[in-house]
Amino acid sequence: MSYKKLFNLANKVALVVGAAGGLAGETCLGLAEFGATLALADIDSEGLVDVSNDLEKKGFKTWSKIVDVSDVTSVEKLIKDLREQFGRLDIMINFAGVVLPTPVEKIRVTEFQKIIDINLKGSFILAQQSLSMMLPQRSGKIILVGSVSGQIGRPFSAHYAASKGVHAMVRTMAVEMAKNNIQINSIAPVFTLTKMSEDVLSDPEMKKSIISTIPMGRLGLPSDLVGAMIFLSSSASDFVTGQTIFVDGGCTIS
Ligand SMILES: NC(=O)c1ccc[n+]([C@@H]2O[C@H](COP(=O)([O-])OP(=O)(O)OC[C@H]3O[C@@H](n4cnc5c(N)ncnc54)[C@H](O)[C@@H]3O)[C@@H](O)[C@H]2O)c1
Repeated sequence: MSYKKLFNLANKVALVVGAAGGLAGETCLGLAEFGATLALADIDSEGLVDVSNDLEKKGFKTWSKIVDVSDVTSVEKLIKDLREQFGRLDIMINFAGVVLPTPVEKIRVTEFQKIIDINLKGSFILAQQSLSMMLPQRSGKIILVGSVSGQIGRPFSAHYAASKGVHAMVRTMAVEMAKNNIQINSIAPVFTLTKMSEDVLSDPEMKKSIISTIPMGRLGLPSDLVGAMIFLSSSASDFVTGQTIFVDGGCTIS
């Protein structure tokens, strides 16, 4: 037996949702470098063009579609178009998410609902729709992006923390799909400087206090996620399911 191709993603179709965001770009590059064919989706059409152009400059062609993950009809259309284009789906990674730091006593119910609709319901709809392609194939990898906030108490994020119930959701979906050769896992990043976190991190005192909770003494980088993403996307993780990999510099164990 040789393990040289353990991480090879050639002939694999990878759908990356939330692809226009700050965390996703490096993962897209990593997937492409390991041979995957990339299908990108996001609600932000300009951002999608930017990420597609960046990848094209590096020699990788992509297919992209606009989607609103909180809208089942929109996700159904994405999966229908993807099926027509590629005929299969091997990897689905969902980065799409929003945050709205607010003290608990000031969170409006409409805001709570919006965060849940995009982060949690969106992850569910995407996973369910992806399964409609993966089940007949009897193979597939689903990776949902959660957060350390789904594991530990961070202030001002009751709605966001609840939406990161994706970590609980992957455990139950993984058990149901285990006999179908479909692995479903999640990744929990720590604070990383992107559009999502720039408001919070723009306050130097807040930034210092956040870094003090990370034993490795720095914020995350989008590139930190790539190793775990390739592992969970490839046959290297064929016996790993229902897990959350914390890519957090030791934050949640300290
Ligand atoms: N940046 C961090 O510090 C951090 C830490 C932990 C977890 N995360 C998680 O990582 C993921 C990516 O975060 P990021 O930092 O790249 O954020 P980001 O704001 O840079 O990107 C999020 C992307 O999601 C897209 N999106 C938002 N609503 C959508 C919808 N309804 N349908 C489709 N796409 C939609 C946005 O257009 C954007 O491109 C999120 O799930 C976030 O919760 C981020």
